[in-house]
Amino acid sequence: MSQHERITVTVNGEPVSAEVPVRMNLVDFIRSEAGFTGSHAGCEHGVCGACTVEVNGVALRGCLMLAVQADGADVITVEGLAQTNRGERLRRAFKAHNAVQCGYCTPGMLVSALEYVEGGGSADREMIRRHISGNYCRCTGYQSIVDAIAEVIEADNGT
Ligand code: FES
Ligand code: FES
Repeated sequence: MSQHERITVTVNGEPVSAEVPVRMNLVDFIRSEAGFTGSHAGCEHGVCGACTVEVNGVALRGCLMLAVQADGADVITVEGLAQTNRGERLRRAFKAHNAVQCGYCTPGMLVSALEYVEGGGSADREMIRRHISGNYCRCTGYQSIVDAIAEVIEADNGT
């Protein structure tokens, strides 16, 4: 018999309480209990970055964190991006630069980009590439993604 625990996690500003199996990962909780289906799993073992979400302001792998470890935390997913000015501008910049093709990597990529931009990241292309190196994209070749992130930072810097 699997063990369950009652937890409350705030997802995109909405508190979500549920009794969950202790082995349920955070991305499954976000999708099945909180109903935000933008985040999704790819590899399910911490390699691809598709499941990246922000937990208390830090971008983490949703497939490697248990939902019970996020009890009491604030989680932001791709659906919550529009709640912040920079998140919304990143979303628009990705669209404008055609930084989305199949879109599988996009929810995690945008969350990693938000962490970078909100953390005062530099518009230097190499620094951006280093930050998103844990998020695999098999379509774009990354250039358009890097351009989109740099554009948002350059606008903030007035450059
Ligand atoms: S699904 Fe989490 S890193 Fe790939
Ligand atoms: S847009 Fe297809 S994997 Fe990135």
